[in-house]
Amino acid sequence: MTFAAELAVARHAAEQAGRIIAARWDQGVTPAYKGTVDLVTEVDLAAEAQIVQTLGQAFPSDRIVAEEGSAHGAALPSERTWYVDPLDGTTNFAHGFPHFCVSIALADAQGLAVGVVHEPLRRWTFWATRGGGAWRDGRRLQVTRVDRLDRALLATGFPYDRHTNPDNNLDRFGAALTVAQGIRRAGSAALDLACVAAGWLDGYWEDRLKPWDLAAGALLVTEAGGWVTDLNGGPLELAAGRALAAGPALHPHLLARLSQAARKDP
Ligand code: IPD
Ligand code: CA
Ligand code: CA
Repeated sequence: MTFAAELAVARHAAEQAGRIIAARWDQGVTPAYKGTVDLVTEVDLAAEAQIVQTLGQAFPSDRIVAEEGSAHGAALPSERTWYVDPLDGTTNFAHGFPHFCVSIALADAQGLAVGVVHEPLRRWTFWATRGGGAWRDGRRLQVTRVDRLDRALLATGFPYDRHTNPDNNLDRFGAALTVAQGIRRAGSAALDLACVAAGWLDGYWEDRLKPWDLAAGALLVTEAGGWVTDLNGGPLELAAGRALAAGPALHPHLLARLSQAARKDP
């Protein structure tokens, strides 16, 4: 199965949402707080409504799980679920920091099937289908062959409960920072994963993500030849929200380094 129709609709939905986001990013928005530092803006809500309407019209029997809650329940139980993050990088967006994306993925009984990550300011669309490779606007994506941490540019993120939960990624961050060429915390998990797929980053890890942060980017990385696992090296589980993504040559080194740090956790 090529998922051509699903890919076309997902790309269309992501690009429609991207136009809503791009039109508003430098106009200033008033965010509402979902948690201590976790924001939502009217642009997240407008983008999500547009995506859910587009996907729901095209595939009425599929389930849709969207971050801001506009879930679309199929009338019958469905094996197919769309994961939608209408604006990944909301904190960046709310501050005007130009680094965010739309993330849309489809999973079926065999796993991830379609992934689309759209960066609305540069109008980049990264996409992948299961078995069909990963692409950005006509170019095939390939992860890097970097095999040493001191040659690796890495990315990570920190969970929203980091102010109160001591398991806040600082141990892993410190362990990686002291051996890597560099680490970025750019604030959009889906875009970080797309950058690993594109070979612009060599590796990425994060804990306590949501399925809509991870799903599209994880398929991009695997279809670009990379490995995406849990933080302990086991199979990725979207619901668990822990991911380590890198090229096959780097993944074992990054896993070993992060695991040493985790053993020191309380
Ligand atoms: C967040 C971003 C961030 C990551 C957080 C996510 P949001 O998504 O992806 O980089 O560190 O874990 O929740 O809230 O901007 O959609
Ligand atoms: Ca997100
Ligand atoms: Ca979001």
